[in-house]
Amino acid sequence: MVKIERKIEADLKPSDYLVVDDSGLILEISSDFYHSFSLTPTDLKGFSVDAIIKETTPRPSSVVGRKNVFFGVINGQPCLIRTEKINKHTCYSILVKNSEIDLYEITSFMNSINKPKVQKKTNSNNRYSFEDIVGDGPLMMQIKELAARIATSNSTVLLTGESGTGKELFAQAIHGLSSRKDHPFVAVNCAAIPEDLFESEVFGYEAGAFSGAKREGKPGKIELAQNGTLFLDEISELPYLAQGKLLRVLQEREVERLGGTGTKTVDIRIIAATNRDLKSLVQEGKFRQDLFYRLYVFELKIPSLRQRKEDILTLTEHFINYYNNLFNREVKYIGPDLQEWLVSNDWPGNIRELRAIIERGMNIVEGDTLMLDSFRFTSLSDRAEQPPTNATSTLSNVKSLEEEVKKAEMAAIQWALKETNGDKTLAAQRLKIHPASLYRKISKYKIN
Ligand SMILES: Nc1ncnc2c1ncn2[C@@H]1O[C@H](COP(=O)(O)OP(=O)(O)OP(=O)(O)O)[C@@H](O)[C@H]1O
Ligand SMILES: [Mg+2]
Repeated sequence: MVKIERKIEADLKPSDYLVVDDSGLILEISSDFYHSFSLTPTDLKGFSVDAIIKETTPRPSSVVGRKNVFFGVINGQPCLIRTEKINKHTCYSILVKNSEIDLYEITSFMNSINKPKVQKKTNSNNRYSFEDIVGDGPLMMQIKELAARIATSNSTVLLTGESGTGKELFAQAIHGLSSRKDHPFVAVNCAAIPEDLFESEVFGYEAGAFSGAKREGKPGKIELAQNGTLFLDEISELPYLAQGKLLRVLQEREVERLGGTGTKTVDIRIIAATNRDLKSLVQEGKFRQDLFYRLYVFELKIPSLRQRKEDILTLTEHFINYYNNLFNREVKYIGPDLQEWLVSNDWPGNIRELRAIIERGMNIVEGDTLMLDSFRFTSLSDRAEQPPTNATSTLSNVKSLEEEVKKAEMAAIQWALKETNGDKTLAAQRLKIHPASLYRKISKYKIN
């Protein structure tokens, strides 16, 4: 496996920066820096940089003299900072200011970068393992430990978390660590089975139960999971009537096929997953309260990616390695601009979205470094395809339609030019207009 290093290079020029001499005394501060951190110019005169920037973790000494990125706190505000040696001076530039960055996350992020990777012990008896769940930040380690502990019990587990956080992965890992691991893991996607087929699929049916039924009847998913685990994915989408039937299975541990006359005892462990708030669905009367309590024995909340930013680069490395093998690429580095973007992004689609973006980049990357520039011909996220809307224009202050259209056009053009570093041909492609048309509009709106 290739070890992907995080290459740090200066290629962005943030407007927030300060320069210090070789003894760490501040020589120069940009006006944006004062502004960003609510400091007055007199605050900083003659100060040591350490009085202004509190490092959350010490940088390894080996990187002194090299470009380096670290997390720090300035006047109470967490940020991602890059240092760069320029002769005897050092420039500290602020790459990401984010009041959402949590100090705890920052510290663990830095630890995960700086500490040598520990070789983990593997248990070869397990088909699935928690090793497949990438992420060794403290939050993830805690969840994995908890999941591993519940795995050994027979209790019902409810996995909750946003879409793409890895609920299915956890379900499989829990099964793989349980005493049921040599028995089936049967997944049912409650959202994907049409309502009228749900019962026959999940509970099975007897011969001649309905027209079109197989002559010999068919066992349902519940029966197929005998002695193993039944994974009920997207449980919130279970039709209300089916909820009642499922409840009976959970209570009685018995299943009755459609059109059947007798019941069959089943020994299954239930793991359910949802990305919706089941409690509020219960309040709205859309989810049965009794079923909710049956499922809510042990809730395992899988954190969103933005809650564990410390895992982003580790996951990125993991997916790069994966696509290196799949696409026969030899990517060894993640460019600093891409690192910054990855860490500062919000990831509403979580790991699924991260994976898709890396796949997109790995398709088109050339050379050994995946950079922000590798995404030049594609957009980094689906959201990036949307030019920014004018959030300030509410209905009350809408000008004439012509005026609004003009503003929107200008904003979209400026956005596209920024995204493509001023490359007008690319910008026109992004905007899906002819380059000639873009040139005309640039001159019409006098855009630089
Ligand atoms: N910790 C992880 N390490 C490696 N890959 C992961 C991790 N978490 C998720 N993935 C990958 O991300 C994708 C989405 O994961 P998964 O399907 O488990 O999400 P989910 O929580 O079930 O989402 P949804 O609610 O939309 O069903 C999968 O390709 C999965 O392999
Ligand atoms: Mg899922």
